[in-house]
Amino acid sequence: MSTYSGETPAVIELSNIHFIRQNKTILSGIDWRIAPGQHWAIMGANGSGKTTLLKIITGYEWPTFGQVSVLGQRFGQTNIRELRKLVGWVSSSIEQRLPAEDKAIDIAASGIEASLGLFRTFTDAEYEQAMQALGMLNAQVLARQRFGTLSQGEQQKVLIARALVNQPRVLILDEPCAGLDPAARVRFLKDLEHFAGMVQAPSMIMVTHHIEEIGPWTTGVLLLKEGRIMQSGTADEVLNSKNMTNLFEFPCEVKQNLTRRHLIV
Ligand SMILES: Nc1ncnc2c1ncn2[C@@H]1O[C@H](COP(=O)(O)OP(=O)(O)OP(=O)(O)O)[C@@H](O)[C@H]1O
Ligand SMILES: [Mg+2]
Repeated sequence: MSTYSGETPAVIELSNIHFIRQNKTILSGIDWRIAPGQHWAIMGANGSGKTTLLKIITGYEWPTFGQVSVLGQRFGQTNIRELRKLVGWVSSSIEQRLPAEDKAIDIAASGIEASLGLFRTFTDAEYEQAMQALGMLNAQVLARQRFGTLSQGEQQKVLIARALVNQPRVLILDEPCAGLDPAARVRFLKDLEHFAGMVQAPSMIMVTHHIEEIGPWTTGVLLLKEGRIMQSGTADEVLNSKNMTNLFEFPCEVKQNLTRRHLIV
């Protein structure tokens, strides 16, 4: 069911989300809309509620109150399992649960069932689908290598390919650069930027602790502080020294060169 009439539904629409557990308010008053074609970054200190917000969007957590709609489907009135197939989710917690001895192509193909590990053999057409997903991240060369022997950056690309294999409409990346060395991170971000520019690219939501990772492909930045939206807007509007100092409660300075911003703490 669409929450809009005569208008393209939002990719994500959250209204007045509150999440309270064990008498602790983890999220409150979250209003956020992602329009089709937008890509967002989320920043916030440890424990500010970023991952919880992603879990609510993917239906793994249920808000105490407030409304969630994804691709025009309102939670509570829709089949979340079906909807999840349209939402790819990559977080570091997945990789430890995947069989290290499987080849990268099998890991990517396992996204078709969204299962952990290889529970069935795949058809040639499905392997082709997995290869195409690897190709989106420039990672076809890794296809035959065992997952456990890949570097962290390579594993990250395979996990994103796994999330992309069903051609989701939304791709959620929770700290995708964690653990990457500086060069691998820059290479990965370049590939991500290239990917974001593709016509068939899903809307991306990326959680990051580093403003350097918020590239020109990001159309919006959401700052979360203690479970509330401190500010949201374009990177130019939001990523300044005053906001970063307030967000992390520590004196910070945002420096900007031609291509990227960075933070001096
Ligand atoms: N089900 C729950 N019950 C109790 N507390 C919870 C629950 N889920 C999350 N929390 C708490 O909510 C807060 C926000 O957690 P969350 O994982 O969303 O933070 P985060 O912003 O992703 O942090 P990080 O940057 O460290 O990943 C934390 O203090 C966490 O302990
Ligand atoms: Mg988190």
